Amino acid sequence: MDQIVNVDEFQELAKQALPKMYFDFYNGGAEDQHTLKENVEAFRRIIFRPRVLVDVSKIDMSTKILGFPIMIAPTAMHKLAHPEGEIATAKAAAASNTIMIVSFMSTCTIEEVASSCNAVRFLQIYVYKKRDVTAQIVRRAEKAGFKAIVLTVDVPKLGRREADIKNKMISPQLKNFEGLVSTEVRPNEGSGVEAFAASTFDASLSWKDIEWLRSITKLPILVKGLLTREDALKAVEAGVDGIVVSNHGARQLDYSPATITVLEEVVHVVRGRIPVLLDGGVRRGTDVFKALALGAQAVLIGRPIVYGLAAKGEDGVKKVIEMLKNEFEITMALSGCPTIDDITRNHVRTEKERLH
Ligand code: FNR
Repeated sequence: MDQIVNVDEFQELAKQALPKMYFDFYNGGAEDQHTLKENVEAFRRIIFRPRVLVDVSKIDMSTKILGFPIMIAPTAMHKLAHPEGEIATAKAAAASNTIMIVSFMSTCTIEEVASSCNAVRFLQIYVYKKRDVTAQIVRRAEKAGFKAIVLTVDVPKLGRREADIKNKMISPQLKNFEGLVSTEVRPNEGSGVEAFAASTFDASLSWKDIEWLRSITKLPILVKGLLTREDALKAVEAGVDGIVVSNHGARQLDYSPATITVLEEVVHVVRGRIPVLLDGGVRRGTDVFKALALGAQAVLIGRPIVYGLAAKGEDGVKKVIEMLKNEFEITMALSGCPTIDDITRNHVRTEKERLH
């Protein structure tokens, strides 16, 4: 493990460790995978305006609201990556003091994840046509000590992921739903995950349903998966407690913008009323810094966590978080920012600014 020096190196190890069907599922994006590349590339086009001769002998990476600005994004079906599944991820999160957002499509039950360790956990949810199933899971999460609900709003239908279609990707029975919904699809053709989503997800979901969600839980509600100022305003009006700027890791609508390029338009209209988080393409501590400089309170990490899990289980996830943390720390030091509050818009220059 000492030989691994950056997060991207876990991708190759995961590829070696996993059957092709599963690696492709974790790795892939929608259609031409334009947005998949852009999520990463757009970060690279942002450069720094570092400040010098600032005392950076002590770096404090703690944040007021979430504690630490790096969180684990919800990703489905961790047991396909490693036999211990979400429990291994949760243990790594607990050891690293990182909030884990457990996917609705997890392969361990929420109770199993909750009792395995004391990581701070949020639950991501989808709304099923059988609303009562979603409501039951939300109630179970509340009972199991989850601290927030993250409603994913960018999957009225599943995006076209061509590798999954070719591989006839399976959808296994998910333990959370045993006795409630059959999630198992082993397709003769096409993607089983897509077939499952098509038959189960409620594509009629709309802003008014935030009220419904409010009526079934007292937990804070975040919406994940918006990319425009218009929707950010709607989210604030709907009274949600936070926003995750996300294009679902480029797995839904191809040619959606890279998330880091639309963060500021969201931050501007939200005006600090609720936290704005971001995910998509975060692979370096420098990316974390750039997102915070452009107004995010925290970032979520998707694929690198799954690759760490696939390659080395709990230790792999720990290592991914540790590497990002260390890179972020050195970025803060070399930019002249001893605390998170010192990171400002002036510390970065976007591509647009460079062209003017
Ligand atoms: C996801 N994502 C996701 N999102 C969600 O709300 N519920 C889910 O079950 C899943 N499942 C899932 C599986 C896999 C394999 C991936 C790669 C992604 C999206 C995820 O939360 C996040 O938005 C992106 O992964 C962030 O982009 P990066 O970090 O993967 O580039």
